[in-house]
Amino acid sequence: MCWDHGCLLVTNPLKLSALNIGVTEGDILCAVSDIDDGTAKEFSYRSGADIHDIFVQRKGDDVYAFVNICPHAGTPLNMDDGVFLEKTGTYLMCHTHGALFQLEDGLCVAGPCNGASLQVVEINVENGNIKVV
Ligand code: FES
Repeated sequence: MCWDHGCLLVTNPLKLSALNIGVTEGDILCAVSDIDDGTAKEFSYRSGADIHDIFVQRKGDDVYAFVNICPHAGTPLNMDDGVFLEKTGTYLMCHTHGALFQLEDGLCVAGPCNGASLQVVEINVENGNIKVV
């Protein structure tokens, strides 16, 4: 990660199995059905002094995972547990300054970090379970 023009630039998706946080590829984070439609489930991992906060957003049968750091000022996106979508349920929203992000790829499409992206967390869904990559 690096900062450019005041926004955090992220290039690569995050692989949880590559971090020293005690999870390996194929571990189950949770079942898709553990996440209510339209909400997200948050996970927090620590590796030494590093804290990795991620969330998995569900929309219908689809799930999307991101690091919970806004590329604008580095704050968490949400204020309330599991609430990341704006009112229409179309975009993820940062509650600090209102940036909107596409669910599909985390690209900011409106707000102060327009064109920057959330860092994607790689996941697999198999037999209704969300698994670590
Ligand atoms: S910190 Fe997210 S929009 Fe400013």
